[in-house]
Amino acid sequence: MWHMLGFLLGLLVLCCPTTANAEQTVLDSAQSPQPYRIAIIGAGAAGSSTAYHIRKFAQHDVPINITIFEAENHIGGRTTTINALNDPRYPVELGASIFVEINQILYNATREFGLSATSREDEGTGSAYDLGVWDGANFVFTLSNDDERSGLKGTLDGWWNIAKIIWRYGLSAFRLQSIRNSVIGRFLRMYDDAFPFQDLGEVLREVDLLPVTGQTGPELLKAAGVGERFSREVIQASSRVNYAQNLADFHGLETMVCMSTEGGMSVDGGNWRIFDRMVKEAEAGIHLGAKVHRVETLPNGKSTISYNKSNAHQIDESGFDVVVLAAPYNSSWLTLSPSPSWKPGKVDYVSLHVTLFTSPFRPDPAFFGLKSDQDHLVPDTILTTLPPDTDPDSLGRGVHGVGPTTFWSLSTLRTINPTTDTYIPPSVLSGHIPAENLISPTNNNLTSPIWPRRAPNDKQYVYKIFSPAPLTAEYLIDLFGWCTHPSLPELLRRDDCTTTTNHHNTSKHHSISTIPHALLPWHHEKQWNSYPYMTPRTDFECFDIYSCKNYTAPNATDSGHDKAAATAWKGKLYYTSPMEAFISAMEASALSGRNIARLIVDRLEGRN
Ligand SMILES: Cc1cc2nc3c(=O)[nH]c(=O)nc-3n(C[C@H](O)[C@H](O)[C@H](O)COP(=O)(O)OP(=O)(O)OC[C@H]3O[C@@H](n4cnc5c(N)ncnc54)[C@H](O)[C@@H]3O)c2cc1C
Ligand SMILES: *[C@@H]1O[C@H](CO)[C@@H](O)[C@H](O)[C@H]1NC(C)=O
Ligand SMILES: *[C@@H]1O[C@H](CO)[C@@H](O)[C@H](O)[C@H]1NC(C)=O
Ligand SMILES: *[C@@H]1O[C@H](CO)[C@@H](O)[C@H](O)[C@H]1NC(C)=O
Ligand SMILES: *[C@@H]1O[C@H](CO)[C@@H](O)[C@H](O)[C@H]1NC(C)=O
Ligand SMILES: *[C@@H]1O[C@H](CO)[C@@H](O)[C@H](O)[C@H]1NC(C)=O
Ligand SMILES: *[C@@H]1O[C@H](CO)[C@@H](O)[C@H](O)[C@H]1NC(C)=O
Ligand SMILES: *[C@@H]1O[C@H](CO)[C@@H](O)[C@H](O)[C@H]1NC(C)=O
Ligand SMILES: *[C@@H]1O[C@H](CO)[C@@H](O)[C@H](O)[C@H]1NC(C)=O
Repeated sequence: MWHMLGFLLGLLVLCCPTTANAEQTVLDSAQSPQPYRIAIIGAGAAGSSTAYHIRKFAQHDVPINITIFEAENHIGGRTTTINALNDPRYPVELGASIFVEINQILYNATREFGLSATSREDEGTGSAYDLGVWDGANFVFTLSNDDERSGLKGTLDGWWNIAKIIWRYGLSAFRLQSIRNSVIGRFLRMYDDAFPFQDLGEVLREVDLLPVTGQTGPELLKAAGVGERFSREVIQASSRVNYAQNLADFHGLETMVCMSTEGGMSVDGGNWRIFDRMVKEAEAGIHLGAKVHRVETLPNGKSTISYNKSNAHQIDESGFDVVVLAAPYNSSWLTLSPSPSWKPGKVDYVSLHVTLFTSPFRPDPAFFGLKSDQDHLVPDTILTTLPPDTDPDSLGRGVHGVGPTTFWSLSTLRTINPTTDTYIPPSVLSGHIPAENLISPTNNNLTSPIWPRRAPNDKQYVYKIFSPAPLTAEYLIDLFGWCTHPSLPELLRRDDCTTTTNHHNTSKHHSISTIPHALLPWHHEKQWNSYPYMTPRTDFECFDIYSCKNYTAPNATDSGHDKAAATAWKGKLYYTSPMEAFISAMEASALSGRNIARLIVDRLEGRN
């Protein structure tokens, strides 16, 4: 699906010969050394990749002992998978869903780990359109489900859709392609001759990407000759579904990322499996449910980690040589001691509400201004944009920024038939177990606890909505046109259905769990601090917190450490999240982890 997120990546070349300077290793291997101890805070894409790559890069040199602290009870962070209907036949991504083949770290890892990654081609819902872009009044752009017409599978491949794009937008699509390829070319160097990099701002200057992050998407597109209409109706629909932001204050580089998502794929059974395997390959010790609240670096350069696990306060005083903070820094629950004068955390994150649910119903065409019998004209995936006459600068962010559509996107993820669908475990999908060996009654014995067996045509759709605020019962009733449905209780009907002026009125607020099961058999709501506001910038935060270019020695009275000790802390505390203000995606975090792994191993082996 072209609209989903993924992005560009390049060749990864190990920068340093592993045998160089072997004599100069910090630890003298002749003395059967203590292992070099590394703590990683966070087991999302960044932390898992850090651990995995440290193990890879350092394999033959020095003994390394990696410990990961993860606040949640699972690995993956913002890459997390849940089961629709609580049924393992229907895993769906609650966070990051898509990556592309040129995302080499992720893609190569899936191959190395024997995971299968596919781009799901659903049979569709019978709608005439795979995708439509709605501006609150009209569908300004649609892609038809054109299999029959063209004989070609896939949306943008169909000649009909291509013809439509050219007719409506002229050469804009081709101009976009050309600027995009140029940006990709520059970006690839970050995997190649510019790898590893000590400082994000510096490497972006080196590969000539600062001008791209320093301007807005519209500025970049205009300079490249991409028309305003194409930008608003197509590119902004992508920035909204992928980052819950309009283009107006969105930087040029991430704009290109939004348009590099064709061929998007996900790991069968969940993308988190990549990171789960990375942690295992790293042979890292992992504390799950362990929320770190203090990292203290002692005068001897060793760090202790204080964390909460099972509601009990714990402290690991074994003395870490390096600590990697692999999560967005939040000073309200993480204290760094001594307090660095430069602190991360100046990057604002979007608050995104993700609502996953199933229903036997399709959205009401009337909600989108169509005639009530035009069900087939409601696209499977509805992206949104602002109407032409809106000044996006005046709107702001979140509930204001979303504009008249009130949601960012509505996707039909798949069609399910709980009575008849069979279960195929991911181990089979990934080829570990041949499917022939699988057909046994137990594997079909996976009915949902909340969805009773029914007649065979118990079809349901699995939906995902991204919105800037929680959805209410009233909102979904309106969206699906359930006002007259007999199972709807009087209370909800009276609140929402007796006036005609309440279209899109989000001020009423029954929880969606008040909707009867017949209409909404299952739902799951999640608020994420999902990604940064991608405002244009040429200043980026530091990977090495105690040797940041803006760093000044910690306040000596703070914790009894003097300046001399502080300057010795270069390379003691690394931070992966600066990358997110540049590109926020699984692969970007994985690249940040790989880069920091290289910096750590190089330093350990005396190379920087
Ligand atoms: C809804 C949504 C959709 C997205 N879609 C895509 C997509 O399609 N493709 C894509 O590539 N990207 C997508 N992204 C972005 C992607 O999820 C992130 O960029 C990426 O997963 C970030 O990884 P990370 O490791 O840097 O951070 P995180 O995944 O946030 O990992 C940080 C980890 O640290 C843990 N942690 C935090 N504080 C502490 C502490 N004090 N002690 C211990 N542990 C702690 C957290 O629990 C978490 O597990 C999406 C994000 C969201 C929210
Ligand atoms: C890593 O160090 C810890 C603490 O000293 C120890 O308990 C653990 O066994 C070590 N792990 C490995 C793999 O050496
Ligand atoms: C991924 O695999 C390709 C093909 O084997 C290889 O050229 C590339 O260097 C690999 N990249 C990484 C990050 O391992
Ligand atoms: C850690 O646990 C203690 C004891 O339950 C609690 O008082 C404290 O607030 C917790 N700290 C954090 C940062 O969660
Ligand atoms: C930091 O954590 C606090 C408490 O959990 C939360 O209220 C706040 O929104 C967080 N800030 C950021 C920037 O994530
Ligand atoms: C299905 O599962 C239930 C409960 O686990 C069990 O009692 C029953 O025997 C199983 N049926 C089959 C056909 O395996
Ligand atoms: C939304 O509903 C509230 C509460 O019933 C009402 O006060 C408000 O006027 C409504 N807004 C619109 C735009 O209809
Ligand atoms: C460094 O300092 C400059 C000047 O004070 C400031 O503009 C910039 O944002 C700072 N950079 C970081 C990474 O904090
Ligand atoms: C050091 O910290 C103390 C207490 O926070 C403060 O009063 C003092 O002004 C600081 N000194 C410097 C040099 O910043």
